Amino acid sequence: MCELYSKQDTLALRKKHIGPSCKVFFAADPIKIVRAQRQYMFDEKGEQYLDCINNVAHVGHCHPEVVKAAMKQMELLNTNSRFLHDSIVEYAKRLSATLPEKLSVCYFTNSGSEANDLALRLARQYRGHQDVITLDHAYHGHLTSLIEISPYKFQKGKDVKKEFVHVAPHPDTYRGKYREDHADPASAYADEVKKIIEDAQKSGRKIAAFIAESMQSCGGQIIPPAGYFQKVAKYIHGAGGVFIADEVQVGFGRVGKCFWSFQMYGEDFVPDIVTMGKPMGNGHPMACVVTTKEIAEAFSTSGMEYFNTYGGNPVSCAIGLTVLDIIENEDLRGNATRVGDYLTELLHKQKAKHTLIGDIRGIGLFIGIDLVKDQQKRTPATAEAQHIIYKMKEKRVLLSADGPHRNVLKIKPPMCFTEEDAKFMVEQLDGILTVLEVAGSKTESVISEMTPCTTKMHNEAHLELVRDGSIDTRENPISKRNGLCMHKHVLFHKKLKM
Ligand SMILES: Cc1ncc(COP(=O)(O)O)c(C=O)c1O
Repeated sequence: MCELYSKQDTLALRKKHIGPSCKVFFAADPIKIVRAQRQYMFDEKGEQYLDCINNVAHVGHCHPEVVKAAMKQMELLNTNSRFLHDSIVEYAKRLSATLPEKLSVCYFTNSGSEANDLALRLARQYRGHQDVITLDHAYHGHLTSLIEISPYKFQKGKDVKKEFVHVAPHPDTYRGKYREDHADPASAYADEVKKIIEDAQKSGRKIAAFIAESMQSCGGQIIPPAGYFQKVAKYIHGAGGVFIADEVQVGFGRVGKCFWSFQMYGEDFVPDIVTMGKPMGNGHPMACVVTTKEIAEAFSTSGMEYFNTYGGNPVSCAIGLTVLDIIENEDLRGNATRVGDYLTELLHKQKAKHTLIGDIRGIGLFIGIDLVKDQQKRTPATAEAQHIIYKMKEKRVLLSADGPHRNVLKIKPPMCFTEEDAKFMVEQLDGILTVLEVAGSKTESVISEMTPCTTKMHNEAHLELVRDGSIDTRENPISKRNGLCMHKHVLFHKKLKM
């Protein structure tokens, strides 16, 4: 059975029973997904969509090996980690083997938010410091403790930044404070962190942690310049704090050449705490904090037990182990590199063809397309990005737009994404961009005419843009960026009584 209710009834029930802050993709015209397989999702009519959004279904939606492992363990035992069980230690051993040697102690949780919250507790307990440095536009989770350190959220809400939170500029060399025309953007951005530390210390504050995603995802698919994290780590350690790398979105081989994204910055950079989640259980709620023996021991000196009812249960660990096996057995990292490189190449050709594409950035199967209205000014093409994701949906390709200006098309599909998928996706994008550009200078009216149902959203997008007011007039210099590598189903409708 794929459907309990008709789409209309599902929508009505959702409106009635699900909190209005829980948003759906394509709010103006949501899709109802009833099943999924590999990199494809299927709606209630059996229509197939190419999934470029779901980095959680890391090894592919409903991978049969994952399903089998979950069922097998469910039949045998599921309980908490207070009982001795082999799967938790086996998983911790296997996970540690993917990380630098000093990262060897695991704490299991159920979500990325829980992992980051626990990481903050570890960091604060370590030296008794409180303050946290976070990057602008960062998102680290939905718990209160994380909204406090997530400018992506608190800057949009009515919350006031807490005094123990310090926001450093995000190291975006395309649209940020220091760009590719800067002689040394890594040092310039790291010096901003140094200054924050010095100012905080002058006011008697003590830094517990610097937290950052190894590549910013919600912040607009940003890859920090080479050397930045090393410099920041030096300053943070000098202040007695720890470096937390949030790999919730970007871990488990998404970048291809490394298992963890922080590893692509070089062996001389090792965070003190790494948090992970989303892809870890391929959709099963499973997350983890990995840290050093020293930090773990300091945490235990508080005398407080860490207990998490579901974290590290045998079913989660069986699933996690299978995900690790599949990444290896199906060479998904190799696939991420091959398909990611091919896709990036195709997108660069599109960039040469379409003035709406300002920047292509990414590595492996983590790619961003920064859309601009003006190549020189880099004016974010927010409304256009919204228009494009709706048009792509009509072409049966699921994409999202994010970043501070909601103008960056995000590509982070299941890791079994193929070259044919990449080609198909780019062909659809090409067609949509061509129509948009043929329409020429009257883009706005064209967007409204073509996508009537999205008018409200466009207005919101424009308002956001005006509010941001960050249109820049600098020249767009020649690139010297980052210095990094860069069945049809039977439908059963339950009659809805409301
Ligand atoms: C970078 C990052 N960290 C943490 C989280 C929180 O993870 P979860 O939604 O599993 O609590 C997210 C979720 O989107 C995320 O993108």
